[in-house]
Amino acid sequence: EVSARLKRDFSRGLGKHSHHKAPVKMLPTFVRATPDGTEKGDFLALDLGGTNFRVLHVRVVEEQQKVLKMDSQICAIPQDMMLGTGEQLFDHIAACLSDFLVSQDLKGQTLPLGFTFSFPCEQKEIDKSILIRWTKGFNCSGVEGKDVVKLLKEAIHRRGDYDIGSVAMVNDTVGTMMSCGYRDQSCEIGMIIGTGTNACYMEEMKNVKRVEGEDGRMCINTEWGGFGDDGSLKDIQTEFDRVVDKMSINTGVHTFEKMISGMYLGEIVRLVLVKLTEDKLLFKGQSSEALKTPGRFETKFISEIEEQDNGLENAQNILTKLGLKWELVDSRVVRLVCDTISSRSARLCAAALATIANRIRVNRGLDHLKTTVGVDGTVYRKHPNFSDELKATVRLLAPECDITFLVSEDGSGKGAAMVTAVAQRLALQGHL
Ligand code: BGC
Repeated sequence: EVSARLKRDFSRGLGKHSHHKAPVKMLPTFVRATPDGTEKGDFLALDLGGTNFRVLHVRVVEEQQKVLKMDSQICAIPQDMMLGTGEQLFDHIAACLSDFLVSQDLKGQTLPLGFTFSFPCEQKEIDKSILIRWTKGFNCSGVEGKDVVKLLKEAIHRRGDYDIGSVAMVNDTVGTMMSCGYRDQSCEIGMIIGTGTNACYMEEMKNVKRVEGEDGRMCINTEWGGFGDDGSLKDIQTEFDRVVDKMSINTGVHTFEKMISGMYLGEIVRLVLVKLTEDKLLFKGQSSEALKTPGRFETKFISEIEEQDNGLENAQNILTKLGLKWELVDSRVVRLVCDTISSRSARLCAAALATIANRIRVNRGLDHLKTTVGVDGTVYRKHPNFSDELKATVRLLAPECDITFLVSEDGSGKGAAMVTAVAQRLALQGHL
């Protein structure tokens, strides 16, 4: 049922006249090809929107058929900056890049830059990208509705101590698909299940009504996190989902993401535990200050509690740290709650991924599709059963699709370089 609803929303998002109001945005990315293995060059990459902000120098070497990541640096973005002004944020990014160029002895060069910016953007071209809205923990003023490339370039010019070459804007899902695509050329889907969740895939140009041209394919950033923002998932949202939404900094948006991704899973579990305690079904009805405090039950606890061998012991240690007095049965119930919430997340993701796989299969008029999904994100990587549950559910919902899952090796960094490299290759081939 969820997959059928999303299928309908994919069509609405792609339609010329329906996309304005569509909750699932289906954004054209201007990425028209996946890597063919001949890409090469020297690139800078920025990665904003996951757990950390990073600056990278990537060298793509053709001969060895692999990407070499030369070096990278993490720059912290303090919480108040995530909620401050856009100018402060971009000045900070430009300063981090400057420090990095000095440390790499690259300041005199003008390298092309791939910018992995993991938020929904209306892309006008590969180097023109308007932020539709902030998601996850970010909410900087004066950026929504603006071209992110322009804001970055202005910040660099304000400093005046270095310059950059052409810029390619990349969503993290696209980076993930592209970095896996370099290893496996049948990789045509990218999926993230981390702080946020989203996926992209290669769509037939004739279905991308908002971009001129009928031939070939273009990568579409689905922004499936927004699924349900028109109320279409109301019947499966729980009272806990509604509280999470109400307490978030972006109430009413990214409904699907709030049921799935790492930023919210821990909080959903906490709310269920609070309710069970109030109903005297846990801890003999005795709560603790920590359990009552939003954010104190971290998403990583879920992975620890669901560990095969030490899970129960981990649960008990965590409950003690949260100031709770538990008995064996309490720790078992807590484990069951974690399993319920993480399984729901994995199955919802699977329903969405099955929708994409089935769509690609039908697009190509195939009875059977063999394809690869590049995946990244802390929830997918770190949770002990998440990936198994997701794969089993996709098999059930898309039986005609044979899907290989490839965990991306640093998709946000290398993928951004790869998008830039493919764009250069296509431009070069166009000139020949
Ligand atoms: C953003 C997407 C991003 C996803 C995963 C979501 O909140 O809207 O653009 O791909 O998080 O990082």
